[in-house]
Amino acid sequence: MTVPHPYPAGWYRFRYSHELERERVVSARFFGRPFVGYRAASGAVSVFDAHCVHLGAHLGDGRVVDDALRCPFHGWTYDGAGRCVQVPFCREVPEGARVRSHPVVERNGTIYVWHDTTGAPPWFDVPEVPETSSPDWKRGPVHRAVIRSRVHEPRENAVDTSHGPVLHARTFPPYPGTKGEIRNWHEDPVAKRLSFDLVNTFGYRGGRRETTLGFELVGPGHLVMRSRLPTDTLFLVPNTPVDEERIVFTMLTFVRRSRLPLVDSVLASLALRHLVRGLREDYVVFERKRYLDAPLLSPADGPILDMRRWMAQFAPPTAEADAPVRRIARVS
Ligand code: FES
Ligand SMILES: [Fe+2]
Repeated sequence: MTVPHPYPAGWYRFRYSHELERERVVSARFFGRPFVGYRAASGAVSVFDAHCVHLGAHLGDGRVVDDALRCPFHGWTYDGAGRCVQVPFCREVPEGARVRSHPVVERNGTIYVWHDTTGAPPWFDVPEVPETSSPDWKRGPVHRAVIRSRVHEPRENAVDTSHGPVLHARTFPPYPGTKGEIRNWHEDPVAKRLSFDLVNTFGYRGGRRETTLGFELVGPGHLVMRSRLPTDTLFLVPNTPVDEERIVFTMLTFVRRSRLPLVDSVLASLALRHLVRGLREDYVVFERKRYLDAPLLSPADGPILDMRRWMAQFAPPTAEADAPVRRIARVS
């Protein structure tokens, strides 16, 4: 059995912007490796491999000095590109002294880091989401969970229309006899973008109500969901692999401002809380499910194979993919 590579290429959330203040250093474990990130006094963010090239101290214990990161052990100091620019008591910096720095972009209230197992530089972009910087919209609460999953699972789950009326029957009661439908499937092969609508019909006070959740994906790490219930709401739903078995799954809410700021906040919290209740039902399944590369699908299922095909374009070439994949396959 083969399972999808744990680290498909793409832009992944490192932190939300508000989670990294100026002159702060943070440590993270993503893609099975340790990283550090810091925000310089200027506001620029850099992400490095975690260990100092001198004697291997963890730079997460270091501190920001102006726009550079200073190692806690002997004080070697790295600029935003990872070049060592100062070694205490030395007039010259040893040749080649630099830590590996990773491509970073900051937009949509999010710090994204590029990851490609082959080491290739970014080969697509992460889009602007206009609502996230609009004065008409307001940032709401965040959900964050570390779950047993690969990035493929939540994406596949979005188009798995036959699980909603069963697994989520209590949280999102369907109108009897209905299940979700995927409409308006559109792929942009250049921007690596996929959009579609998930249309559900819910039982609501004895009546039926159709709701549309709009999905927009770019690469395996970036997802935006737009909903109009209970008000105009946007969810940024990035996920980042921690290692071969776990991902950090987060949702950041934005809500369109009305004239009643308190109501906006309450609606944003309610919208997120309701979605998270459903997500937790998925997390329980993810915890013990196994990936089937040749599932036995029925006509009731959504376009799961289309989603797999779309996600497959981000997998590294087979040689790199094989080692971690086989290891996981044996233990599952
Ligand atoms: S280990 Fe970083 S300066 Fe020595
Ligand atoms: Fe689900």
